[in-house]
Amino acid sequence: MTRIGMGLVGAGFVGPHHIDAVRRLGFVDVVAVAGSSDESGRAKAESLGVRKGYGSYQALLDDPEVQVVHNATPNYLHYEVTSAALAKGKHVVSDKPLAMTSAQAKRLVNEAQRADVVAALTFNYRGNPLVQQARVAIARGDIGTPHFLYGHYLQDWLLTDTDYSWRLDPEKAGASSALGDIGSHWCDLAQHITSLKITHVLGDITTVIKQRRKPIESHEAFQGGDGERELVDVTVEDLASVLVRFENGVRGCFSVGQVCGGHKNDLVIEVCGAKASLRWRQEEQNELWIGHRDRANEVLQKDPSLLDESVRGYAHLPGGHQEAWADAFANVMREIYTCIAAGPPFPALPPMVATFEDGFRANRIVDAILESAADGGAWTRV
Ligand SMILES: NC(=O)c1ccc[n+]([C@@H]2O[C@H](COP(=O)([O-])OP(=O)(O)OC[C@H]3O[C@@H](n4cnc5c(N)ncnc54)[C@H](O)[C@@H]3O)[C@@H](O)[C@H]2O)c1
Repeated sequence: MTRIGMGLVGAGFVGPHHIDAVRRLGFVDVVAVAGSSDESGRAKAESLGVRKGYGSYQALLDDPEVQVVHNATPNYLHYEVTSAALAKGKHVVSDKPLAMTSAQAKRLVNEAQRADVVAALTFNYRGNPLVQQARVAIARGDIGTPHFLYGHYLQDWLLTDTDYSWRLDPEKAGASSALGDIGSHWCDLAQHITSLKITHVLGDITTVIKQRRKPIESHEAFQGGDGERELVDVTVEDLASVLVRFENGVRGCFSVGQVCGGHKNDLVIEVCGAKASLRWRQEEQNELWIGHRDRANEVLQKDPSLLDESVRGYAHLPGGHQEAWADAFANVMREIYTCIAAGPPFPALPPMVATFEDGFRANRIVDAILESAADGGAWTRV
């Protein structure tokens, strides 16, 4: 198989996981990393065992060995890095959100179409084998017609006023914090496993911690800072609850927040149908709960031999051997790179991989929730 060269822009928290995932594929060479300065580019490349470290993303894009650009920069750079990569004819794997605003996201959809390359977004929870099992089970009618989806995505890493991240700065993250950062994952998962689009939303959003003591020196996501601090006002939401309507009149609701003690990465999604219910919880992601009325409930364990044939390949270890976040991430990368390896004309991404259109939709949903909340909680069309 022809080898494919990958370059990463933004090697903070999630960037190194992009590298780990593509290294597992066996036919991808991690060629270069770009940091925000020569020094950081070199240091990141060295610590990640990558041959070349660049001081700017432009330099990385000029490297002919880099065929696929992974964009794991903070949100405010997503549009410019992805747009520049597409203009150079590179394939793009962007971390979510696709862009900081819907208008930028729409532009990227068009630019990707024109570039005629593979362009994918990492809504990585789709890559979990039991998420795919749930999708297959719903599609073949195991739970009957869905009528209600509910769940939450709660975290606690912003619980105290000394917790700070660029994710709370609208200039760097966009107009939304919790909804854009993690609510977008819930909405994507809900739409993905049911194959139903969210059409209307009604949002109630709030900022629980209105002032935070921000470290003067910036640091990467989820890294503490012990130095001097300044008091800053926070205008974006850290907690939200949303009523949702899907196509076909299906109802739903979910809450998101990063100020909920004890909830680390607590993403839960449940689909209730005419015959039964299904629930998947990220923190116990090797189990799928199946709820019945007239017989005992079941827990399906992630065991390749128990999975539908079409999703068995997403489980890489026998039953009882836990697979997790990084494995799902690698499943998404495998699908993306299989399309790239096929060469032009590139096949469409399989449904398991989020497209730029899905990313645009995610931006639009967040916008609609913010609009709804600003209107005092009015039903708002996406
Ligand atoms: N899919 C997921 O589950 C998931 C998880 C975490 C983060 N993310 C997304 O990934 C992106 C990055 O998040 P993170 O948590 O890794 O943030 P982070 O702050 O830890 O990392 C961002 C990195 O980008 C670097 N950077 C800043 N400006 C740059 C520039 N001009 N050129 C090159 N590098 C530059 C920073 O130095 C830092 O190393 C965000 O958009 C976030 O939404 C997705």
